[in-house]
Amino acid sequence: MNGVVLISGSGSNLQSIINSADKISLTIQCVISNKANAYGIERATKANIPNRIVDHRLFESREEFDLALMSEIDEHQPSIVILAGFMRVLTDVFIEKYQGRMLNIHPSLLPKYPGLNTHQQAIDAGDTLHGTSVHFVTRALDGGPVVAQKEVKINPEESIETLAAKILKQEHVLYPEVIRWYTQGKLKLLNETTAILDGQVI
Ligand code: GAR
Repeated sequence: MNGVVLISGSGSNLQSIINSADKISLTIQCVISNKANAYGIERATKANIPNRIVDHRLFESREEFDLALMSEIDEHQPSIVILAGFMRVLTDVFIEKYQGRMLNIHPSLLPKYPGLNTHQQAIDAGDTLHGTSVHFVTRALDGGPVVAQKEVKINPEESIETLAAKILKQEHVLYPEVIRWYTQGKLKLLNETTAILDGQVI
């Protein structure tokens, strides 16, 4: 299956997807970053994957940025759009266009802690469990149906950095696996609130 990956930063999730691309039957057609200095762009170049920068700061509005992003994506007619550390809030027009074939990974046990600074929020709340979620992207911010999660323990001496590292390690296992379910046709979005895996509501 052909797909486009959107990133904003280090791209360690992108790397895990690149590394498992054969196993998960995914051809990454293009990696697009909204940040020119995203290390993930180097990772794409090293893996001979076409890549583009669409810098959000060059657009006057969210709508214009999203239209530019859509035109880059649509050059490839991808069957899946993978958000891998893509840190922009998307407009409804964008989301509706790719709904049902767009996945995101979010560093919390959704519905807990949508938005930013999830590790800090979990530590501040005194949580002993944190984790990561893969979900379909719908118009609700970080609110689309969760497909799968992985948990990590928060130790008493945990810092944001140690917690982030533990979460990333889990993400690198979880995201390729969920993408594989999708490329194999086992995973589908039924409606804005429901995803189906192997014919069963998740
Ligand atoms: C990941 O932990 C991902 O869950 C998070 O950003 C990190 C990207 O790391 N995504 C979000 O916060 C989305 N709101 P990476 O660039 O090394 O893959």
